[in-house]
Amino acid sequence: MKVLAILYNGFKAAKAEPRLLGTVENELGLRAYLESQGHEYIVTSSKEGPDSDFQKHIADTDILITTPFHPGYLTKELMAKAKNLKVCVTAGVGSDHVDLNAAVERKIQVLEVSGSNVVSVAEQVMMSILLLVRNFVPAHEQAVSGNWQVSDIARNAFDLEGKVVGTLGAGRIGHRVLQRLVPFNTKELLYFDYKGLPKEAEQAVGARRVEDLKEFVSQCDVVTVNAPLHEGTKGLINKDLLQHFKPGAWLVNTARGAICNADDVAAAVKSGQLRGYAGDVWNQQPAPADHPWRSMRNPLGGGNGMTPHYSGTTLDAQTRYAEGTKQILQNYFEGKPQDPGNVIVGVGKIESASYGQR
Ligand code: NAI
Repeated sequence: MKVLAILYNGFKAAKAEPRLLGTVENELGLRAYLESQGHEYIVTSSKEGPDSDFQKHIADTDILITTPFHPGYLTKELMAKAKNLKVCVTAGVGSDHVDLNAAVERKIQVLEVSGSNVVSVAEQVMMSILLLVRNFVPAHEQAVSGNWQVSDIARNAFDLEGKVVGTLGAGRIGHRVLQRLVPFNTKELLYFDYKGLPKEAEQAVGARRVEDLKEFVSQCDVVTVNAPLHEGTKGLINKDLLQHFKPGAWLVNTARGAICNADDVAAAVKSGQLRGYAGDVWNQQPAPADHPWRSMRNPLGGGNGMTPHYSGTTLDAQTRYAEGTKQILQNYFEGKPQDPGNVIVGVGKIESASYGQR
């Protein structure tokens, strides 16, 4: 079979660090395995436009491997050209770069390595909440630039203790974030999700479910977004919803950039309506140099905790999603059942309940 992987270039770093498995250079560690089984393995980073390797090779590819970090967008149109395509594997978590409805129609399976990087992201969420609330970035900038003016930092720095924190989406990551927030003695932990947490889990973290989104955001000092991108979440956090946030709330989004309207969020940070926004996911990746999230600052000079998309691709996470990808391929080749948690789209059917209420 022909297996095509769309990965990002790691250049020098990938040559020096073989654990950077999600790079073109290190090929998810799959070449020897795939070739020993007689499969052809094409790995490329070229993914945009009709002359890209992605569009050229997809025509006769049987299995496509992509990652959310350098997403190869498998649109309905491209799927129509992919006559041999049977399986799409996301090396990581989040398969919104594949048109899931089109995959259902064409009986193409969509599988991901669920759980592989959820701790990595939950840790990043904790870091992002803390760096916003404690006004870390401007403080660090003073340290490296030779300045020292504590009042300029402290006037917008707070404790997380005593605040209300809510997660939009309480699946694998959202639940882990709630667990990690427990020792911070917040005033309250809230969640908004059409699926309730299991009762014991809800009790263990002491979280309260809020069923109305506007009511949910209006109660939170900090909102963290941990839901997949789908028809029901695209552009969900926009000017209209932001008006229901507490004035000066903090927003963290490590889920998908397009869940937020980029211009509306940047405007809210600039005006101080949001005290800050942090995340690693962008509506366009790589983000253009003039993306508003790169330069936005609140009126007191802080409030920007953006990074490139890396929270789910720590070296630990890469080991897990590379191994998980191999396991999915092996199951497929050997006709063994997949772990049900990894199946987003089965043959002709959406299996995951996380991509919207259908
Ligand atoms: P999950 O499937 O375990 O949980 C997602 C939860 O979101 C589910 O409980 C679902 O019911 C809920 N949800 C879906 N639509 C919703 C809506 N409209 N409103 C409220 N809740 C909604 O997924 P997991 O593992 O927690 O990951 C969540 C997302 O995080 C992924 O889909 C991916 O987009 C993102 N992610 C980002 C990474 C990064 O590196 N920044 C790495 C891994 C995941």
